[in-house]
Amino acid sequence: YYQIAVLGYGTVGSGVVEVLDTNKESIKKRAGEEIHIKYVLDLRDFPGSPIENILVHDFETIINDPEVKIVVEVMGGVEPAYTFSKRALEAGKSVCTSNKELVARHGLELIEIAKAHKVNYMFEASCGGGIPIIRPLNSSLTADEIDEITGILNGTTNYILTEMGDRYADFDEVLKEAQEKGYAERNPEADVEGYDACRKIAILSSLAYGAHVNYENIYTEGITRITAEDMKYASLLGMKVKLLATSKRKGEKFYAMVCPELVGKNSPLYSVNGVFNAIFVHGNVLGDAMFYGSGAGKLPTASAVVGDVVDCAKHQGKTVVTYWSSKVLDQVDIKDVEHRFFVRVKGNLQKDKEKIEVLFGKAEFISVPGLDNEFGFVTEMMSEGTFDEKAAALPEILGRIRIRA
Ligand code: HSE
Repeated sequence: YYQIAVLGYGTVGSGVVEVLDTNKESIKKRAGEEIHIKYVLDLRDFPGSPIENILVHDFETIINDPEVKIVVEVMGGVEPAYTFSKRALEAGKSVCTSNKELVARHGLELIEIAKAHKVNYMFEASCGGGIPIIRPLNSSLTADEIDEITGILNGTTNYILTEMGDRYADFDEVLKEAQEKGYAERNPEADVEGYDACRKIAILSSLAYGAHVNYENIYTEGITRITAEDMKYASLLGMKVKLLATSKRKGEKFYAMVCPELVGKNSPLYSVNGVFNAIFVHGNVLGDAMFYGSGAGKLPTASAVVGDVVDCAKHQGKTVVTYWSSKVLDQVDIKDVEHRFFVRVKGNLQKDKEKIEVLFGKAEFISVPGLDNEFGFVTEMMSEGTFDEKAAALPEILGRIRIRA
């Protein structure tokens, strides 16, 4: 059988152990041989747990064991995951991971190291949890020139926005509930500020466009400034607020951004609610496709990790081509990206309408019954740069949300 080691016995690590046990027989048939966990590495002890007897605290035990051919890295964070992954690959062991921080930061380098040692670095679980998206981009959609990826790539924020929209509740209140229910972390910053979605769209874009996208160069805006009032306007507009991570071709260049957007009923992303994720892809010959499913959680994420383990087992001694070039993707300045904008302002619709039309040109006005000292309007398509200039001339702007065309 194939001997593997699992680094980290947290949520995903224990999920991997469980999946390999639950589906032992079917996995064996698909992999050709049984996949057997020889070691689990963790700093903690787990007395009475199923891994009690295979638990080790020292990575050297794993790296020095030639029987271990595949290492599952589900520790999270950059270090020591980076050092361990690198050393495992250099020692001729394939590595499968769910670690999006690490893949976004060092994926390119780790793929190169894997290639040099005729092993694999696989990371299906790093984006969209259990949803197959890395493998489709790597192998199923290779006939296409991809020109757009738009994803709801974070379950925590999609849950929060869905709840806020359903009940017109405020962000802070729903975040607190989500934390109590375990849908949001105690430190929710990476999720609610959009950093997690940013790393994931950087990974997906690098694979889709065959050029490296540095996540630090992606404009990122989270959901912390979205309010219950915004949700009332959204519902009058027949739209929903979603945290979208987008990368899109614009002429010969691309742009990537993460921000809350208003999405209408004609978009397939409109119906992606709660903790679910979805990734919409447009290819020049494929047309539209959307991948939908469980984007987080123990078993869905473990399912993707174990799928990679099986793939590594089937490709011993051979590197599956992952096209992630070191050439940096040519990005458009965000100021030139065009959207329609929904804007909320303080004031009186009848009195201020003309002033806004002078400034913004044609606009669609909207007021919400019960919200008396404010109103909203929707602009025509305009660039971010133009919008910012015009918005600076508005005296009391309460908020603005981009609208998905
Ligand atoms: N915090 C992430 C989410 C977990 O909410 O989607 C999956 O990467």
